[in-house]
Amino acid sequence: MEVRRAKTSGFCFGVSLALEKLDAEVEKHDTKIATLGPIIHNPQVLKRYEDLNVRCLENAEEANADERVVIRAHGIPRETETALSESCEEVVDATCPKVKRAQLGIFNMIRKGCFLLLYGEKDHPEVRGLMSYAGDKAFLFNSLEELKKFPLSADIDYCLAAQTTQDREEFARIDEYLQGQLQEHLQVLNTICNATRERQQEAIALAKEVDAMVVVGGYSSGNTRRLADVSRAQGCLTFHVEQPEELSEADFSGMKVVGLTAGASTPRSIIDATEEFLKKL
Ligand code: F3S
Repeated sequence: MEVRRAKTSGFCFGVSLALEKLDAEVEKHDTKIATLGPIIHNPQVLKRYEDLNVRCLENAEEANADERVVIRAHGIPRETETALSESCEEVVDATCPKVKRAQLGIFNMIRKGCFLLLYGEKDHPEVRGLMSYAGDKAFLFNSLEELKKFPLSADIDYCLAAQTTQDREEFARIDEYLQGQLQEHLQVLNTICNATRERQQEAIALAKEVDAMVVVGGYSSGNTRRLADVSRAQGCLTFHVEQPEELSEADFSGMKVVGLTAGASTPRSIIDATEEFLKKL
């Protein structure tokens, strides 16, 4: 059976960087290491760090004075970072540079007197971090319809920004709507990252040309689940697995070509193993 593997499958730049920082900490220090929240949504990788005695904290208060705490790629709220720096030995900032740029861009706009309009998912860790840079001068919405219900004032300057993984087309529609309402009272920050979109577009293209798709990655990884969703939306038989062995029960009889992709938090070793497994079928 032929396996067509997506070029964009696996770690994005921000996740790679965060894991490199964590690995460097594990290797070079005698002190204890912890991460604030799971460093990545992949149970196999998390298990490996657990075996290396890396503690996963649920909140900043759990940090011990003798621990170095790594902030994951999504970033954290400002006040959490302050609390953490007071309670642990050292904060190691592994926030993705693109998320950091969004945080600082928002902070800058707020300092200039703007009110933030943020296109993002409520309760997402990255969004909680971004919102913290605006204090109470912010409105969070998840669709143009929701934004339309928000009363805009002609006397205020606004700043539009988005969670890095939001949809670019919807953002363009939101931008167009706000330009019409606010004209010169609107500043727009370009904070959307291409990594998610590139993965989804390649998954859609692959799903159209293969007999079935295999999406490998954590069940709790939102971007992995979305890859499986976009593939299914093309009418393509799609298997979402965390490990290749889970495919043993799947029926590939009569199939000639299978597509393979993986979420931004899936290690290359698992993608390679899945490709090998499929080739042997
Ligand atoms: Fe960063 Fe984009 Fe990945 S914002 S964490 S490179 S999806």
